[in-house]
Amino acid sequence: MNKNKEVLMAEYDTATSVFTKIYEVIDINYAPYILKSFYIEDDINDTSFRTNLSEWFKGRGIPAWRDKLDLLLHRLNLTAPYELLDKAFGLSLSDQYWLKPYESDISYDDINFFDNDFDYVEFMDASLSTNSKTITKESSLKTPNNTTDGMLKKAWIIDNGIRYLLKGGYKNETLQPFNEVLASEICKRLGFNHVEYTLDTYKDMVVSKCPCFITKDTELVTCYQIKYDIKRHDGIEDYEEYIKKLEDNEIENAREKVENMYILDFLIMNEDRHLNNFGIIRDVNTLKWLDVAPIFDNGQSLNIEYYDEDELHISGRGRMFYEVKPFDEIIKVVKNIKRINISKLDGVVEWFDDLLHQYQHLTGYSDTRINRLCVLLNRQINKLKELISRDN
Ligand SMILES: Nc1ncnc2c1ncn2[C@@H]1O[C@H](COP(=O)(O)OP(=O)(O)O)[C@@H](O)[C@H]1O
Ligand SMILES: [Mg+2]
Repeated sequence: MNKNKEVLMAEYDTATSVFTKIYEVIDINYAPYILKSFYIEDDINDTSFRTNLSEWFKGRGIPAWRDKLDLLLHRLNLTAPYELLDKAFGLSLSDQYWLKPYESDISYDDINFFDNDFDYVEFMDASLSTNSKTITKESSLKTPNNTTDGMLKKAWIIDNGIRYLLKGGYKNETLQPFNEVLASEICKRLGFNHVEYTLDTYKDMVVSKCPCFITKDTELVTCYQIKYDIKRHDGIEDYEEYIKKLEDNEIENAREKVENMYILDFLIMNEDRHLNNFGIIRDVNTLKWLDVAPIFDNGQSLNIEYYDEDELHISGRGRMFYEVKPFDEIIKVVKNIKRINISKLDGVVEWFDDLLHQYQHLTGYSDTRINRLCVLLNRQINKLKELISRDN
């Protein structure tokens, strides 16, 4: 199902999380975007289509590379993340797909997590805490936490009726939340459409907190899904074809909005702009492409992996579609860099310096490390200033 629309009818084997037979495709247009590229009208049981359906569904679960997955599964009393998919119809807070058992009269309105509250406390504890117990309540497994992607430990919570995603750091690294908040500050100052991340603490651990940017009427379609629609070139052409696809679907100022993401990546040296970390928002009722998704997931930045107390490391490589390239190369995609009002970033380095010092008692960052982070940020801002003043 896609919200209230029937997409297809199939046999699903819960033991292996595989779709074993497809009986009918009711409306392929409402299927997850990725599946359209594999659909053959005359052969609905084509192996490639069925395999991709299974892969897509399994991919809704927590990925095998989630930080501390073994511990989380132990605490949840499970052996594999896909077991969670059976607990709450595969529902998510990033789209409206779900599995409706044949002949059941369950309605989307009664079960979706946008309207219906969920019991998140035990899962949050199991996911984020260093000393959690195993869960005790079956209701703790009926949450949108069953369907989150990404490497970082995370949990959906409800605060004052609003759904928020909490994200921790990777392993013992705690810089991710600060980078997310820095990214929000930069985007706010430069007027880039972004997801607003704030800092929060959970049992002495610093986490980032952002509101859900999807509503009951929308879904996130990541570039990873759209790429199957586009010929692959392994070059700048991939970017251009993606922009064209967005423009063909009448997204306003698509090019500038995607450029903004690469400008942010340049400023904070984000190394992780892979194809699932950006995309578009689609209306699930009309299927219209509404907008470029607000910029999200900016934590893997400021040389997070290469910190060395003795030496300032500058990796300087980001991602652009299938390529890993120096940021100085990636920034060249921006057609008119003069449109950026860089003076809006005046004082942002000092602001970040203050923020890092405020949390020093929790992060344990040395003054040297804080200084290095600020040096890197300052360096990138100055580089961008230079590009703006040079470009005529
Ligand atoms: N605020 C949000 N609202 C809705 N969906 C979100 C939100 N933030 C993240 N997601 C979804 O969750 C996935 C994982 O989140 P992300 O921030 O990318 O985590 P990670 O850093 O572990 O990759 C995203 O790819 C996206 O599908
Ligand atoms: Mg991500």
